[in-house]
Amino acid sequence: MANEIKSSEITPEKVYLNRRNFMRAGLLAGTTLASAGLYRFFNPQPPKEIQTPQISDVKQAPDFKLEEKLTPFEEITNYNNYYEFSTDKNAVARKAENFITRPWTVEVGGLAGKPKVFDIDELLRFEQEERIYRFRCVEGWSMVIPWVGFPLKKILDAVEPLGAARYVAFQTFYGDVKPDNPQVKLPEGKNFMQTAFSAGIELPYVEGLRLDEAMHPLTILATGLYGKQMPNQNGAPIRLVVPWKYGFKSIKSIVKITLTDTEPPTTWNIAAPDEYGFYSNVNPDVAHRRWSQAKERRIGELGLRESLMFNGYAGEVASLYDGMDLKKYF
Ligand code: MTE
Repeated sequence: MANEIKSSEITPEKVYLNRRNFMRAGLLAGTTLASAGLYRFFNPQPPKEIQTPQISDVKQAPDFKLEEKLTPFEEITNYNNYYEFSTDKNAVARKAENFITRPWTVEVGGLAGKPKVFDIDELLRFEQEERIYRFRCVEGWSMVIPWVGFPLKKILDAVEPLGAARYVAFQTFYGDVKPDNPQVKLPEGKNFMQTAFSAGIELPYVEGLRLDEAMHPLTILATGLYGKQMPNQNGAPIRLVVPWKYGFKSIKSIVKITLTDTEPPTTWNIAAPDEYGFYSNVNPDVAHRRWSQAKERRIGELGLRESLMFNGYAGEVASLYDGMDLKKYF
């Protein structure tokens, strides 16, 4: 998604002009640049090793297994989209390593009879189960991920949605550049979360679902993967996973969940409304404005796979969209 924002829109003029001077430095600079790029290509940074605590008593959920090869832990934790830290997928793991996720609370409210602020440790005491899901990014790559978590429905039921509630809005933590913010340890006096300007999207990151999508048994709040607590780069300590939708709906590091009566704004829809709709169901028949969605590159495989309607979950979720024009509501 990084290349979808014109560099002239996100690059300050001074930096842009400096770049032009650099270009003028001619062939020599160009050659040096090319060889540096080639060097990085053949000598990539080694993947960052991630150690997070094991989650105890993870229930195996036989209904949510897949006969597909799991994507290795190392790939899932070193190829990330998390714009608050970096727009470079391979850099997120390192940039996010100082993100402090304790103490952490998730405020659940809005149109709710019993709004409540949950402490993360309370949420980790909910029964945790393993869900092996396909994960399909709108950019055209996919993975198979053994998440650990619990149905979002559990936390919504707990706050007792009012009859008027029709949607659920989510918000990611966004660290201010404030030294007294307990969530943000400032390495060498600097914040490690990017500014909204350098990320190229409005922050905090926000997402939304219709209430029936949120209540669907496939929709989970994930607290970990591969049996371990969620690594920072994947959205610690708790994130959404909606396996039949493009990956950007699966918002990370959630601090706020709000029941609403109107469709909530969503980050990528705000950034490019003609490219990213509110629904964003995986749909091989509806192309992105600039590329086809018919195929995908499964990380770790050569060649391309056919993408599946609703990412292979049509049997479970197609009825949610009965009678809807999925080209219009993309
Ligand atoms: N959530 C936040 N807060 N910020 C982000 O940049 N990126 C989204 C989604 N959730 C994103 C986010 C996108 S585009 C994708 S594909 C997935 O997270 C990537 O999840 P992963 O890094 O765990 O594979």
